[in-house]
Amino acid sequence: MNNRRVIVKVPASTANLGPGFDTLGMALGLYAWIEMSASSTGETTFEYYGDGMDDLPQDKSNLLYKVAQLVFKEAGVDLPELRIAMYSDIPLARGLGSSASAIVGALVAANALIGSPLSDHKLFQLATELEGHPDNVGASLFGGIVVSAWDGSEAQHVRIEPNERLQTLVAIPAFQLATEKARHALPSQIAMADAVFNVGRSSLLVAALASGELGLIRHAMQDRLHQPYRAPLIPGMAEILERAADFGALGAALSGAGPTLIAFVDANSSDKAGLEAFLKGTLAKEGIDAETLWLSPCKSGPIVTIEEGPSGSGQESLLDRIKGEVKA
Ligand code: HSE
Repeated sequence: MNNRRVIVKVPASTANLGPGFDTLGMALGLYAWIEMSASSTGETTFEYYGDGMDDLPQDKSNLLYKVAQLVFKEAGVDLPELRIAMYSDIPLARGLGSSASAIVGALVAANALIGSPLSDHKLFQLATELEGHPDNVGASLFGGIVVSAWDGSEAQHVRIEPNERLQTLVAIPAFQLATEKARHALPSQIAMADAVFNVGRSSLLVAALASGELGLIRHAMQDRLHQPYRAPLIPGMAEILERAADFGALGAALSGAGPTLIAFVDANSSDKAGLEAFLKGTLAKEGIDAETLWLSPCKSGPIVTIEEGPSGSGQESLLDRIKGEVKA
């Protein structure tokens, strides 16, 4: 076990899907990789690759390290010194579940390192507790579309297979938005009429996604719980949500807590370039530079590679190991 090297490829996610605040999530074909092994030097070391990763803590206050120790504690295993490496193509603090991917990747890697004593259900409980809601972590852990609910002590979920024709276009603004700030913008109470509005839309959306009735998405992807309150934080958002369907989208939503906007698109749609120009142009009018990416739903959860053998200086780095799969 001590000579084991684990590499986990974990997907990004979009949460809420409009009306399903803190409940719905979908895994996306954009990834982070986390490597973990027992340290051969007797000291914990970290290597980070990817944009904005240099600022992450390189000591035992590091999230990946703490998550790994949580797994070891649950399993009754003592493994205090680790070699941890991470590369991510998931932009930080943009609403694409970067922190959920890191948590899920570290849980799965640490569990695999000690022979996978914890079940996926247990890892889901730990991830939900750490993240504070189950939507992003559920999607990254189970892949596909995940419907979940958490009562503060136990999370339940059902996974839905994404329709073959479902594709997404994300517009990722150049600025970061902390989830905490975007949650702070929400009211503590809402009107009964708004709650009823969301129950209807969220239920209809789940049924439409499960049955493949993609034409219903534009009616179902409406929200009164969080998007109206967050719109002032993202200039151009209200116009994109209102008009994306006119440019061929099946529906559009704020991705998680934002600032990324996501359009759901039929892969056979004839005017993808027009939709992309509309999203980019609407944000540009507000002075916001944004990167657009076409992403398919990711149908699987984390992919785990285990290599047995001595670790150490001769070993290929994580970046060399995953070259060809990543943007860098
Ligand atoms: N459901 C969460 C939110 C996702 O909208 O705040 C972001 O972490």
